[in-house]
Amino acid sequence: MKRLLLCAMMACLLAATGCVMRNGARDPQIAFRYAENQAADYPTTLAAEYFAERVEALSGGRIHILVYPDAALGDERSVVEQIQYGGVDFSRISISLLAEFDERLTALQLPYLYQDGGHMWRVLDGEIGGAYLQSMLDIDLVGLAWMDAGARHFYTQTPVRKLADMQGLRIRVQENAMMERMVALLGAVPTKMRYSDVLPALQTGKIDGAENNYPSYESTGHYLVAQYLLEDEHTRIPEVMVASRAVMERLQESDRALIAQAAQEAAAYQRELWQEYEARTRAAVVESGCEIYVMPAAEKARFQDAMQSIYDEHACSAGDVLAEIEALRE
Ligand code: GCU
Repeated sequence: MKRLLLCAMMACLLAATGCVMRNGARDPQIAFRYAENQAADYPTTLAAEYFAERVEALSGGRIHILVYPDAALGDERSVVEQIQYGGVDFSRISISLLAEFDERLTALQLPYLYQDGGHMWRVLDGEIGGAYLQSMLDIDLVGLAWMDAGARHFYTQTPVRKLADMQGLRIRVQENAMMERMVALLGAVPTKMRYSDVLPALQTGKIDGAENNYPSYESTGHYLVAQYLLEDEHTRIPEVMVASRAVMERLQESDRALIAQAAQEAAAYQRELWQEYEARTRAAVVESGCEIYVMPAAEKARFQDAMQSIYDEHACSAGDVLAEIEALRE
């Protein structure tokens, strides 16, 4: 009996210190949770899995990261809150959601801000992107690396080809004040909603359309119920891999460094996957019968003009950074 008790005590002690040996392999000493709101085969989720693999390899198996796709740990907004207090350790978040926690981030997602993807990457990979990652400490997050989310377009249940067609349409937007304003300035009625609520809202007629990138349009099935896509590239909303500041501060410096390295590697991988997945999902929705209308430059100029007051409103708070972004056009 005494021996049994001693064995049980030893097992508890070893489990608590994470040093239980099984088949000669060392069990992880640290286990983390990574939240992702996209499906398991989506580029950001595959990159999260790659991040977990790299962290595990670089730490010699000491650090294990379990990825939860499909918003299993909650919608994006609640995940940000959980990360802030350390309930969730890592995630990949659209900055639309983060901008509600730190308004300064809005400057990186203004409508028609970037000339193309190359322009956005010059901004994010340079000093501006670095400074914004650093600034996330102010909202208790550690900004690890930028990920690609391509360009967003409007999609609706009736064709939209010009500004006049947007009038009065109920369009879902992310939970972000600037996105709400953008849609209102186009004459439509913005409806803020969580990502996972968009499909049922389209199905039940609560909204007439939404806006997103091709991978999201396809992978969520939105394309099955909103078959007209206006390819207007109104925004490019960067996404960011973040860690909980509280959690990272408890780690030793060398572990923080290996996590930072793995994040950079995973983000590079995600950007590669993205290119291919974006092209594939565009082709898939065309194949399924969706109508894609590439907005001509003259009409796009009307959409852009309608955004002027957003730029005026940000001139004071973000004028300098907007000028720096402008200077990176080619
Ligand atoms: C994209 C993004 C998600 C976000 C979604 C949305 O799909 O990757 O993180 O939740 O847009 O429109 O809410």
